[in-house]
Amino acid sequence: MDFAFRLNGEDRVATGTPTTTLLDWLRETAGLTGTKEGCNEGDCGACTVMVTDEDGARALNACILFLPQIAGKSIRTVEGMAGPDGSLHPVQSEMIAHHGSQCGFCTPGFIVSMATAHLNGARDHDDQLAGNLCRCTGYAPIIRAAKAAEGTPVPAWMTDNVPKGTATPLRPTSSDELAEWYATHPKGTLIAGATDVGLWVTKDFRELGDVAFVAGCADLRRIVNKGDSMHVGAAVTMTELLTAIRDIHPSYAELIRRYGSVQVRNAATIGGSIANGSPIGDNAPALIALDAQMHLRNGDAQRTIDVEDFFIDYGQQDRAEGEFVTGFDITTAAPNLRCYKLSKRFDQDISAVCGAFNLDVSDGVITAARIAFGGMAGTPKRAEAVEAALIGQAFTAEAVQSALPAFHEDFKPLSDMRASAEYRMVTAQNMLVRYQMELSGQAISALEVRA
Ligand SMILES: Cc1cc2nc3c(=O)[nH]c(=O)nc-3n(C[C@H](O)[C@H](O)[C@H](O)COP(=O)(O)OP(=O)(O)OC[C@H]3O[C@@H](n4cnc5c(N)ncnc54)[C@H](O)[C@@H]3O)c2cc1C
Ligand code: FES
Ligand code: FES
Repeated sequence: MDFAFRLNGEDRVATGTPTTTLLDWLRETAGLTGTKEGCNEGDCGACTVMVTDEDGARALNACILFLPQIAGKSIRTVEGMAGPDGSLHPVQSEMIAHHGSQCGFCTPGFIVSMATAHLNGARDHDDQLAGNLCRCTGYAPIIRAAKAAEGTPVPAWMTDNVPKGTATPLRPTSSDELAEWYATHPKGTLIAGATDVGLWVTKDFRELGDVAFVAGCADLRRIVNKGDSMHVGAAVTMTELLTAIRDIHPSYAELIRRYGSVQVRNAATIGGSIANGSPIGDNAPALIALDAQMHLRNGDAQRTIDVEDFFIDYGQQDRAEGEFVTGFDITTAAPNLRCYKLSKRFDQDISAVCGAFNLDVSDGVITAARIAFGGMAGTPKRAEAVEAALIGQAFTAEAVQSALPAFHEDFKPLSDMRASAEYRMVTAQNMLVRYQMELSGQAISALEVRA
C-alpha cells in the first residue's frame, strides 16, 4: 500500500503495510537513521519527529506511528532541522554552545522536540521535554540551550506547506464512513492515536488484520461547548482536551498535563483511553467523578450510557462487535472536582493510584458525592461506601477520618510492580484526607512549597 506525504520538504511516497511504523520506514527504507530507536514503545522520545498538518506542528513518537497516520501530512526528522544550505537550527546551535549532548543517542529526539516547541512558542521546557529521556548529559544544559533559543526567529525551512489533504487509504473521513466500514469488518481493529495499539505491534508482534484509522473522522474530532456541558468527540487528543478544559476543570487539566508526555498527549485520544478498558487509565476516574456520558454507535444505531457503566469487569466492557465510541458529554460545572495522580515518576508515568473527587457541599454539609479511582480494582471504580459514609456529614477532617474504614468495603486492591495492595489502600485514603484539606484552604502540595 502507498502513502504519500512530505518529508523534510520533499514529496515522498512510502510503501508499506498499514502497521509499518514511520520509524521502521525512515531507518530501513529511507536510510534516515538520525531518528533513533530506544524503547520502541513511546517512552523515551529518541524517535521524535515533527508532524505538521492543518492543525499545526506537533511532536510525535515515530516508533508508534503507523504510515496511514502520517499520509497527507508533512514530516520533519532530525535530518531536516538544519537548512538546505547547512545552516543550523537555533536549537542545534544552542545545544552545541551549552554542551547539551554527551553520548548523543537521545540528542536527535531532543532537537526535534525543542525545534517543535520553538516553532510553537512553547516555553515550559520541563513539560515540553518530559518525554525525552537522557541518561548521561543531565537536563540542565539542555534546558539552558532551549531557553537560549527562545525568541530567535523560526527558520524559513521549518514552515514548509502541508501537502493538500487527499483521501488516504484506511482513513474514513466521517463517523458515517467509519460505521459503514465497521459494519462490514466487525472483527477489524480501530486505531486512534495508536499509543496502545502501537505497542501490540512493536512489543507483542501481533498481526492486526483489517484496520481503520479513526483520527480522520472530522465529526469525532469536535469539541462543542454547550454551556452547562461540553461534547468531546472520541478522536479528540489529550493535548486538545487539555486546552479545552484548562479553565473549566483546572484539576483535571493538570492530571492530563501529567498524562504521558507531549508526544503521547499529541497522539492519544479520549476515546481510545476509555475504549481500551484500562483499570489504570487517568481519564476514567475523572469522567466518572464528573458523571460523564458516552455515546456509542453501531451501524445506524446509537446509544448513550454513563461512562461508569461502560466498565463491566477486568477486560470486559459494554461494547458490542462493530460498535464504536463517538464521544462524551461532560458537565462544565464541578468547582469541587479534584484529581490526584500518584505514580513512581512525576511525569511520563502510568498511575499507581488515580483518584477523582467531586463533592457537593451546601452550608458546610456534604449533599452529594462522586468519588472514583483507577488502580484500585480490575476496572475504574466508584467508592460507593465511602460516598455513603460522607453524605449528610459536615465536611470536616473528623467526618473524613470516620469515612476512611469504608474504603475497605469498596476496594481490595492488588499488589503489582507499581505498588503493593497496602500502599494503594493507604494512599487512596490519604487522597480523601488531602481533598478535605485542599478544599478547606490548607496547603497540601509539596510542589507548591517554595524555599
Ligand atoms: C509512553 C506512554 C505513556 C502513557 N501514559 C499514560 C498516562 O499517563 N495515563 C494514561 O491514562 N494512559 C497513558 N498511556 C496509555 C495510552 O496513552 C492511553 O491508553 C491512550 O489514551 C489510548 O488512546 P489512543 O488514541 O492512543 O488509542 P489506540 O491505541 O489507538 O486504541 C486503544 C484501544 O481503543 C480502541 N479504540 C480507539 N478509538 C476507539 C473508538 N472511537 N471506539 C472504539 N474503540 C476505539 C482501539 O481499537 C484499541 O482497542 C500511555 C501510553 C504510552 C505509550
Ligand atoms: S523509541 Fe522510545 S519513544 Fe520511540
Ligand atoms: S546524551 Fe547520552 S542519552 Fe542523552
